[in-house]
Amino acid sequence: MYVVKSSLPDADLKTVAAALQGALVDLLDLSLVAKQVHWNVVGPRFRSVHLQLDEVVDIARLHSDTVAERASTLGVPPDGRAATVTAGSGIGHTPDGWIKDTDAVRTLVDALGAVIARMRERVAATADADPVSQDLLIGITADLEKHHWMFQAENG
Ligand SMILES: [Fe+2]
Repeated sequence: MYVVKSSLPDADLKTVAAALQGALVDLLDLSLVAKQVHWNVVGPRFRSVHLQLDEVVDIARLHSDTVAERASTLGVPPDGRAATVTAGSGIGHTPDGWIKDTDAVRTLVDALGAVIARMRERVAATADADPVSQDLLIGITADLEKHHWMFQAENG
């Protein structure tokens, strides 16, 4: 079914669709990981880390909507189903159960680092294919990098 027609050539659309879908999956998983750790963090820095994690949840949810709707705008149906997120996320294993505040911060440093590396590849891949989508990905990456800095500073 071809409901929404894109103005992009097919080859460019394929590149951009992969970048947006990949970003969607990573951002959805990031929102889940940050919530999981938000609920399970324990330790002397509970309060600050607990609150900081919800900031990541908020931006991950916001940006997942941005990339999904950009895909829709280009005529590519986004796929945010749980099974798709599980199969495609670039974030590694997140432990279950209580998590010490220092480990919680490290988990977020690693998760954000993994997503940022993939986002930078998407930024490079979309430069010629669709600078409008690239602009969105650049803004999202900047936001993720800011939070990556703050979590690294937490364990400094
Ligand atoms: Fe909460």
